[in-house]
This record gives sequence, C-alpha cells and structure tokens, in this order.
Amino acid sequence: MPLPVPTVPEGVDPAWLPDEAFRPLGTRRVLVRGSGPLVETVHGEVAAACARFGGRVERDASPEPYDLLLELTGDDGGEAFTCERRAGLTTVTATGAPGLLYGLFHVVRRGPAAFAEDHGLQCHRPGLALRMLDHWDNVAVHPVMGQVERGYAGGSLFWDDGRARGDLARIRAYARLLAACGINAVSVNNVNVHAVEARLLTDRIDEVAALADAFRPYGVRTHLSVTFAAPMVLGGLPTADPLDASVRAWWAAAAERVYAAVPDFGGFVVKADSEGQPGPFGYGRSHADGANALAAALAPHGGTVCWRAFVYDHRQDWRDRTTDRARAAHDQFAPLDGEFADNVLLQVKHGPMDFQVREPVSPVLGALPRTRLAVEVQATQEYTGQQRHVCWLGPMWSEALRFGHEGPAGPVVGQRASALVAVANTGDDPFWTGHPLAQANLYTVGRLGWQPDAEPAELLDEWLALTFPAAPRRLADGLRAVLSGSWRTYEKYTAPLGVGFMVQPGHHYGPNVDGYEYSPWGTYHFADRDGVGVDRSAATGTGYAAQYPEPWARVYESLDTCPDELLLFFHHVPYGHVLRDGRTVIQHLYDTRFEGVAEAAEAAEVWASLAPLVDGARHRRVAERYEEQLRGAREWCDQVNSYFLRKSGVPDERGRRIY
Ligand code: GCU
Repeated sequence: MPLPVPTVPEGVDPAWLPDEAFRPLGTRRVLVRGSGPLVETVHGEVAAACARFGGRVERDASPEPYDLLLELTGDDGGEAFTCERRAGLTTVTATGAPGLLYGLFHVVRRGPAAFAEDHGLQCHRPGLALRMLDHWDNVAVHPVMGQVERGYAGGSLFWDDGRARGDLARIRAYARLLAACGINAVSVNNVNVHAVEARLLTDRIDEVAALADAFRPYGVRTHLSVTFAAPMVLGGLPTADPLDASVRAWWAAAAERVYAAVPDFGGFVVKADSEGQPGPFGYGRSHADGANALAAALAPHGGTVCWRAFVYDHRQDWRDRTTDRARAAHDQFAPLDGEFADNVLLQVKHGPMDFQVREPVSPVLGALPRTRLAVEVQATQEYTGQQRHVCWLGPMWSEALRFGHEGPAGPVVGQRASALVAVANTGDDPFWTGHPLAQANLYTVGRLGWQPDAEPAELLDEWLALTFPAAPRRLADGLRAVLSGSWRTYEKYTAPLGVGFMVQPGHHYGPNVDGYEYSPWGTYHFADRDGVGVDRSAATGTGYAAQYPEPWARVYESLDTCPDELLLFFHHVPYGHVLRDGRTVIQHLYDTRFEGVAEAAEAAEVWASLAPLVDGARHRRVAERYEEQLRGAREWCDQVNSYFLRKSGVPDERGRRIY
C-alpha cells in the first residue's frame, strides 16, 4: 500500500516541498517497481503528485510507454541510485530502498529538466555516509538555555516542557523535508544531557521510539545524546569507569533494551569531559577508552558512537598566555589515532574554536588518518546572527569541506570524513527556522553532506527553485542577491580578520568587544593600544600553527603568507600592519564595518522591492528581521569601530563618524 504523504499541518510552511514542486513529476505516467516500506513511501509520493496534477502511477506492471520508471532492483540497503534518460523514458534504479527514495527527490529537484534531454547513465552516491542533524533540544525547559539550547526557531519539534509533544504529523513532514535534502539521521536531544533527558535512554525510550517511527518512512534514523555518567545516574553503579566490567555490562544491557524498542536505532552522541559534562578523564582513562566502551555496547546492533572532540579547558585563567583553547582538541585526540573502534565517529567542529563566522579549518580533521571522522557545523546561527540576520553559510561550510590537509593534491576534508553533522536550526516556528531565509542553511547542509564538493551557489539555486517554484526571474535574482553574499556581509560588520568572539557573553547575540576578554573561556583578542590578535605561531606564540601539516603550518606561521581573513587568528599585529590590498589593519577594520552595514541596508532594500512577488506572511517576517539586522549591524559597526579608535588613537582616513 502506498504510504500517504505527510502533509504539513495548517499554517506551517511547506519549505522546499510545496505541492507545486511536484508538478513536473505529477503530470507524467510513472511506473514504480520494487517492494518494501520505503518503496511504499516513494509510491505514495508519486501517487499524491499524480493525483494533484493529472498524471498516472502504476505499480510493478510491464513498462509500456511511461515517462518515468522508478525501480528497486535489490535489497542492499544502499543509498546510491542511477539515473538515465533514453527515448523519452527517465529511469531511476537503485539496489537499496533508500537509494530509490533519494532518486525520487533527485527527479523532483530537477523539475522539468528530468524529462527533457536524453542523457546516459549517471551514478549518484552520497559523499558522506552519515548526514545528521543534532538537535540541541531539552526535554524539560532548562533554566538558562530554555527548551532548545541555542535555538532561534521557537520551541522544540519533539519536546514541550518535560513531555513528548506527540505531534507526529509535523515530525513526519519534517522527516520528508530532511530526506529531500539528503539528511539520513537525527539526534533528538541536546548534547548537554541533563537529568530528565538522561532517561530517554532507559525508562523514556518509548518516546524516542515514537519519534523513530515518524522518521523511519523517510529513511531517517534516530540517535540519542547520552550522558557518560549514565551507569551511575540511571543504573545506580558506583562508577562510570569505561574499563570497569559492570559499567560495560550496563551499557550492553542498555543498548539491548534500546534496540528492542527501536530496531534501527542509529546510536549515541556523546559530549564528554567538555564544558562540565562527565567523561573518561574522571577515571584516568582516555577518550578512546570512553568511546570504545559505548561502541562495544552498540556494535552487535550496528549502532555508531558519535564522540565529540570539543574538549578544552573552559576554566582557564585569562592571565595564562600559554594555554590556547584552539590547540586543545588536537593535543587530546591526535595521539589517539588508531585506537578508536570501527563504529566510533570522532565528531570534530569544523574550526578549532566554536562556530565563529571565520575560523581556520580544524587541524584535527587532518591528524587522524586511521580514525573515522564526522565534521560538525552549526546550522543554528548561534554566532552568525541567530536567525535574525540573514547569513547563508553554504560558502563557509563548502570551504571547510574542500580544505586540503595535505596540500593541493591531497585528500580534502570532505573526502576524508565519513559524516557531516549539523547542529539543527529548526523548531516549532511556522517557518521551521524562525527566519524564513534560514531554511536555505538547512537545505544546503543536507545537500553538502550528499555532495561535499558541490558548488554552494548551485545548491542555493536548487533551494530557490524548489521553494519558489514559479518564481519570476526578478524574484530569483533578488533572493540570490540577498543570500549569496550574506555570510561575508555578516563577517564584515562583526569581529574582524578571524579574531572571533567579541560577542555578548552568555547568549552570544550582539557585540561586546571585551565581553570574553577576561573570562575563563579561552577566547581572547589581546587588543591593546598598539595592536590586536592572537599569536599562534610556533616561533613566538602558542604553537597552534604547527598542528597543521605542510604546507599549511608554514602558510599560517608567517605573516607574509597567512591569509588576511585569518590574520588576527594566527598573529598579533600592530594596527599599522599593511594587508595585501594595501590597507592597514585599522583602516580595513573601519572600512569593512561600514561596508557591512551598507551591504545589509542594500539587502534590506532588495527584499523590500520583492514585496509584490512574495506571499505576505513570509515577506513581513523577513522584512521585520531585516529591521533588526540593520539595527544590529549598526551596533556592531559602532561598537567595534569606537573600541578600536579609542584603543589605537588612529583616526579613520575617511573621517567618518566614529563615536
Ligand atoms: C557552544 C555553545 C554551547 C554548546 C557547545 C557545544 O559552546 O555555546 O551551547 O553546548 O558549543 O558544542 O557543546
């Protein structure tokens, strides 16, 4: 029986799957062949599209004249598919049911082009096997972090004030959106696992099972964040020592019960020894010991441990110039290469600090050739405008995935890694992502997981064409104009040249140049009257630059070769230091702040001009956010400029108003 297509609840935006996106498919004669649950999902999709647009779908009949054949020819569970078009017939074939589902969405994405010119056999397979969203959702409202930690899109899709929401219709629609952009896994609770959330692993596993049931028809596997201390807090053991036999037995039994409830459970996400979470250090054990203990419990069931490498001293003394937070993950994890079990993924943030608008690519991603790696990015815009500012991060993520750790010829991050994990930017907001244009981030991250070397601009165009299927040229051009350069615009009006932070402590929204300067978090800029930046060279600084293999260690070490956009991440320089474009650091800082504000204002104007072409609710929501973005951009510009004028005493060459 074809599975009915989950419809978005009344008042909720269809995002990149409006009915209209299915018109080209829905007017055709389609044959679906194969059997199994995901084939029923595919059949349901095609049937709904055909019912709406006048096409016809057959099941397993012999192929007389059809426009599209969707055929499952095996049961290997794979995600790959092939597509060809000959003599008027488009054929999608897969040897695994997930492949057929991805093949269907490939056809949807291509729109009319899927039925236009003939082409030979094309093979499509995911670049990264695991493409996961980590929801930082709390089950119970956290006194400081609320329902969703770093969430800017309303409440949680899953949890509401201590209970499961139970609105599975919306979750089914969510699963469908995720599958359509290539996401195949979700973790449904925060990496900071508090007391209530810890119990999802045991006596509250039925709530997880209900979510898994809603995600399963679209090929999305469910994962859980667990606390390393679970054997103690849930099991009443006196220790969580990963080498203790009773602890290992507890994890094995816990996993057994999880799989009894969720047979295709994906695995655990673990934040250990990080920002106050418990971990193996408490028992004098290594992170490999810790990860492997959990991996052993999951291995018989085919589960994976995503073990986060976000481990650093968050209680450092700002007076201590020898400790460098950027170094921490590499110092901890590089020596452990080869020690992790096969079903461990070491989950590494793309930069060494914490999702700043500009960071170098983490050296950890090149340092463990015998370890399976997951690259973690943040779709939720904690440090990039919190979904009040437009900041499409596709180009940044793409740069990270394309970064080569062994020189231009060596494998790039996107080839080395096995997974792309994004901290989710969704919530129960009617637009899913708070800012309607932030949907583009979610779409892009899924598609980059599938194809890490994709051109981000092409992915933006895909998102555009799906979300606004009948968009006149002017609308498409306008959307491209406001989104494509938005990351660089945001960078221009916030912290300069890779130095990072300078945000309000705690909530991280808005400027505060010295907000973290004398704090224990390890995020400093060291501005004084003469200069600014962190010396991370090997010769005179913290030695972080030497964590990279050549040629990068050399490139970052020297002021002559370090890219300007990362200058202050790697070096402390005088304000008069001259950049490649001939401007001094201080003048660049002033100029780019003003430029950033001007660009944001221009984008707001472009958006205003699109009013007649966009539905009212969406247009208003974005317009309101632009007002806040403009206010915020000016505040950033004025605070950063005033701060540095006062520190340096160097006036703006162009005499603009600085306070
Ligand atoms: C950031 C963020 C935290 C989060 C942490 C993490 O520091 O501000 O809210 O818990 O990252 O990635 O674990």
